[in-house]
Amino acid sequence: MQKYHRINIILHWLIFLLVVFVYYTGWYRALPLHRFAGGLVLVLAVIRLVTMHVWRRRFPDLSVNKWEKYAAMATKIALALLFIVVPILGIVFRMYFGLDLVYFGQVVVPAHLVSENHIIGESLRQWHVGLAYLALLLLAGHAGAAIYHHTVRKDNLLNRMF
Ligand code: HEM
Ligand code: HEM
Repeated sequence: MQKYHRINIILHWLIFLLVVFVYYTGWYRALPLHRFAGGLVLVLAVIRLVTMHVWRRRFPDLSVNKWEKYAAMATKIALALLFIVVPILGIVFRMYFGLDLVYFGQVVVPAHLVSENHIIGESLRQWHVGLAYLALLLLAGHAGAAIYHHTVRKDNLLNRMF
């Protein structure tokens, strides 16, 4: 079976593993690790946006109907974008609380780029968390559909991504 380009496969699973870690550290309030891994997701997700278009591959359509086809496509686009938007919101909401983004003792994004405003900060924090949960819901649908294809329809869909 035809596969995605190796670079896109590596990025897909690397982002997935990091994302699992990012939710875990978000829930258990290991926030320095959360910020670090979340920042890495941002960088990799931006790179992926480029590589998935540079090394784009077209496959035979495995959907049964148009509804499935468009739902799958919309979910993939939303996931690719949400894991860029959510970490940016994480960085920016902290800036509105006056907090620099610091990695290894170096200020990477200084908070003074915006003027401190806790009302905006709180609203962006809620967007950060809310969209993270939306992404989780989409992720469950995306992964569930992939496993359903592979195991119930037996169309070997997962092999494209390995
Ligand atoms: C952070 C989690 C994930 C994100 C952000 C994500 C995102 C994406 C994106 C954007 C694509 C389209 C790739 C392209 O067109 O180049 C894709 C494809 C795919 N993903 Fe994921 N994915 C995630 C997790 C998973 C998991 C957990 C599974 C399996 C259990 C999975 C299985 C697949 C498969 C099989 C494809 C190829 C589908 C096809 O060709 O129609 N993904 N994913
Ligand atoms: C893939 C990227 C990210 C995802 C999916 C994500 C998701 C989450 C989740 C699920 C929580 C816990 C929410 C809750 O249930 O209370 C959280 C909290 C938090 N995130 Fe992220 N996050 C990401 C990246 C970042 C980044 C890059 C930063 C900052 C640099 C950040 C800063 C925070 C902070 C400070 C909290 C604690 C918020 C609070 O006190 O309620 N996150 N995030």
